[in-house]
Amino acid sequence: MAAARLQRRDSLLLFVFSTVCSLAAASFTRNLSVELNPGSSARPPGGDLLHVRALGDNDTLHFLFCSQGAPALLLVHTNVTSSYVSVDWPLFLSRNSSGSLRVEPASSIVSSTALIFSRLLEYDDVNNTAEVPFDLFPPYQLRDDVGWSAMELSGAAARLCGSVARGSVCLHLSVFGREGRDETWPRLLHTANSSQVSVRLDGLSPRSARSRFVLELQTVGGASPLDAVRVHRSIDDEFTPSIFKVSEWTSAANESAADERGFVLWKQVAYRRSAPALEDTSPCRHSDPRRPGGRALAEAGGLALAFFGGEDDVLGLNVSFAVAGDVFYNATKFLSWTALVGIGIPPADAFSPLVAAILAVGLGAPLAILLMGGVYVCLRKRWPSSSDSAYQPIN
Ligand SMILES: *[C@@H]1O[C@H](CO)[C@@H](O)[C@H](O)[C@H]1NC(C)=O
Ligand SMILES: *[C@@H]1O[C@H](CO)[C@@H](O)[C@H](O)[C@H]1NC(C)=O
Ligand SMILES: *[C@@H]1O[C@H](CO)[C@@H](O)[C@H](O)[C@H]1NC(C)=O
Ligand SMILES: *[C@@H]1O[C@H](CO)[C@@H](O)[C@H](O)[C@H]1NC(C)=O
Ligand SMILES: *[C@@H]1O[C@H](CO)[C@@H](O)[C@H](O)[C@H]1NC(C)=O
Ligand SMILES: *[C@@H]1O[C@H](CO)[C@@H](O)[C@H](O)[C@H]1NC(C)=O
Ligand SMILES: *[C@@H]1O[C@H](CO)[C@@H](O)[C@H](O)[C@H]1NC(C)=O
Ligand SMILES: *[C@@H]1O[C@H](CO)[C@@H](O)[C@H](O)[C@H]1NC(C)=O
Ligand SMILES: *[C@@H]1O[C@H](CO)[C@@H](O)[C@H](O)[C@H]1NC(C)=O
Repeated sequence: MAAARLQRRDSLLLFVFSTVCSLAAASFTRNLSVELNPGSSARPPGGDLLHVRALGDNDTLHFLFCSQGAPALLLVHTNVTSSYVSVDWPLFLSRNSSGSLRVEPASSIVSSTALIFSRLLEYDDVNNTAEVPFDLFPPYQLRDDVGWSAMELSGAAARLCGSVARGSVCLHLSVFGREGRDETWPRLLHTANSSQVSVRLDGLSPRSARSRFVLELQTVGGASPLDAVRVHRSIDDEFTPSIFKVSEWTSAANESAADERGFVLWKQVAYRRSAPALEDTSPCRHSDPRRPGGRALAEAGGLALAFFGGEDDVLGLNVSFAVAGDVFYNATKFLSWTALVGIGIPPADAFSPLVAAILAVGLGAPLAILLMGGVYVCLRKRWPSSSDSAYQPIN
């Protein structure tokens, strides 16, 4: 009898537990499929084109990543599941043609966003102020000055490396089918509607002992250009210790269209070692987005030009990886910085499970024990335990 009761209670607990778990796990997912150089039988000279199709119930996200021209990540959202990528390879490889890469049917495109890695800048920080001076060293153009090697794939992740200044610049892209959090710092939270790209500057020979680097980024947002960066405070948790700020580069225009616009999001931190400790973190800063003028897209060439064409609105900003007094690049000869690129409402950190658990144990448990104790006492009073009546003492 007692055993049966125990079983019933256990199965109830199990039921509650599994319901909670399935509720937590029922986040939105996408099915990913990876394709290299869609529609091409040979590996194209000058760099691969990666296509990750992320299929939802009624929509598709196309992630395209390429090192033809300046390396770029293009994200196209369509409201059908049958959309596909079509590349006119001879035109695409000329790197000077708008319309050589299309997502069809064009009428299904809801939004499109490209992030272009345009230049790597270097300056001599003689006074250790981490202020970017007017006279910099000649910049590295990531379209011309870098020999990009073939893309290395692993699942829905890719690594693209180029040699710069006797070292390497590597871009690591990961596309996700479900919500989660990356294993390495800054342990950004991601969803099925976002991808993560990190930039690593490994072993570059700086041109001065006090050199610092700045990364110039550009975005193209089609109908909603990414013209504003909002800075949010974030929670200092065990995932990204000591960093309190998140930057969100998106379109300022229309809050009501927030579900559809693209975003680039990063925590304001860079790491000076590939396996960083807390002391290897550097705060990073960014300039305000501005229109570079000239024919920025035509200059970037490659993927973004092929999709958007020369007319589109380009915005750029600089990310710098130090504050006054920080050690110089030469100290570790390594820097890594990570951003999330996606559409819709960017994921935001809530209290982490650890913090929540501590709060729950600290505040909730005593309350729960009191409550359960009360309920138990009540039940005991109303229904005397069946074992009391079931077994009569044998006389
Ligand atoms: C993803 O794939 C699974 C198994 O192949 C299938 O059951 C599911 O319906 C697919 N989901 C979408 C959104 O295509
Ligand atoms: C997908 O479309 C079908 C039919 O138009 C609709 O019934 C369903 O609710 C949609 N699903 C989602 C997740 O929007
Ligand atoms: C790009 O193509 C246009 C015509 O399509 C041509 O006028 C222009 O000179 C080309 N630019 C380069 C750099 O090849
Ligand atoms: C898909 O989006 C296009 C453009 O926004 C719109 O015209 C079309 O009605 C949408 N189709 C569906 C099925 O939602
Ligand atoms: C560095 O500091 C010196 C003395 O304050 C100043 O004259 C010089 O202009 C500064 N250099 C830069 C690049 O700011
Ligand atoms: C991702 O996109 C899908 C389809 O547009 C939407 O239903 C879902 O809510 C989005 N998820 C997040 C976390 O933004
Ligand atoms: C970088 O530091 C090393 C020693 O740590 C030094 O030998 C080298 O000259 C420095 N590089 C530059 C460009 O000053
Ligand atoms: C914002 O978008 C809504 C519908 O998408 C539109 O009605 C409204 O005029 C827009 N507002 C601005 C300021 O662009
Ligand atoms: C980045 O900084 C460099 C050097 O100060 C400047 O020439 C360039 O215009 C900046 N780029 C953007 C997009 O602000």
